[in-house]
Amino acid sequence: MARKRRAFASRRESDCISDIVSIAVFAELMPLTRDTRNRAETFTGPACYAPQFMTGNGIAPSYPSLPPRPPAPDISSIDPRLDLESEIRNLKRQKNAVLLAHYYQEEAIQDLADFVGDSLDLSRKAQESDARIIAFAGVRFMAETAKILNPTRKVVLPDYEAGCSLEDSCPPEAFRAWREQHPGAVSLTYINCSAAVKALSDIIVTSSNAEKIVRSIPADKEILFAPDRHLGRFLSQKLGRPMTLWPGTCIVHEQFSEREIVRLKAKYPDAKLAAHPECPEPILAHADHVGSTRSILNYVTTAPGKRFLIATEEGIVHQMKKLAPDREYIPVPPDNGCRCNECPFMKLNTLEKLYLCLRDERPEIILPEELRKAAEKPLLRMLELS
Ligand code: 13P
Ligand code: SF4
Repeated sequence: MARKRRAFASRRESDCISDIVSIAVFAELMPLTRDTRNRAETFTGPACYAPQFMTGNGIAPSYPSLPPRPPAPDISSIDPRLDLESEIRNLKRQKNAVLLAHYYQEEAIQDLADFVGDSLDLSRKAQESDARIIAFAGVRFMAETAKILNPTRKVVLPDYEAGCSLEDSCPPEAFRAWREQHPGAVSLTYINCSAAVKALSDIIVTSSNAEKIVRSIPADKEILFAPDRHLGRFLSQKLGRPMTLWPGTCIVHEQFSEREIVRLKAKYPDAKLAAHPECPEPILAHADHVGSTRSILNYVTTAPGKRFLIATEEGIVHQMKKLAPDREYIPVPPDNGCRCNECPFMKLNTLEKLYLCLRDERPEIILPEELRKAAEKPLLRMLELS
């Protein structure tokens, strides 16, 4: 069983390589463009948040570079006779470790976790944890966020290479240059970015709190939104608030097929579509509900109806089935028949690597303190405003 899992893990890793190469190419080629400027004049926000940090001319300095990337986990050092689930449970107990997992993790990892949640809830859990070790089963920016918010804990993740296409689309120096072209603008940055980009931002947002935070920005302030252009466009249109958008995208949410949605809706006229705002506009146009992973989970398990089409990473279906097993959840397929509705980064984490990261307490997130402190400020603003 363990061997079978290992073979599967390495197949997944090789599948990821082509995605990662295309992300790198994307980051090189994609020009920085100004995007939608729509329905600007009519917006009047509620009580405004006008903090002094929105300087535009006080963009943070460069930070010392990160330590070299840690070596890949050595799967061959695992005794194949081990029952990994029970070893992981034992290690958590012996080492006073808490396991936080995102909804996109494989089912076995979700079932071992002390808490499963969306980016915002996981940030809060990490911040309040008093465990000696936080093992973060998610992608690297999530583990970095845990370290930024709770620096005295040791934060480890199963695979340090678990990145994110949004993070990759937004290199810190290009982001800094973009900010410098817009003096006086407020930069709202999606949590799916590196610590260095966080450090250059005014306020971090997640898909759970972005709407509330955008509403809190004075109407006369230009908003720079990075790195997810689909989430930015969705917010801009919904709130009638112009924004200048960074051209990043999620390689998973970008792949859902509109044609498949139309076909599924024709086949199941009663089915409701729940979609993540990282999806492109034509997908969201069909949605009955748009929201973060937690909000999608709440919707499909409590809204009237028995059948739901899911336009987000299909790992979350596991929690749906646990919470409301009497309903039907149909993941929307991608356009080209690939398994692209699985996040290749999230799926780099396996039980084997989780076991190793608890056993060896690495790879560990290490951030220079100056960078950590600078990245903490916009995260704390987010938590205050959420
Ligand atoms: P959530 O904040 O909705 O969990 O989204 C995180 C993410 O990476 C979606 O692709
Ligand atoms: Fe990043 Fe997309 Fe994976 Fe979420 S699903 S971690 S946005 S690549």
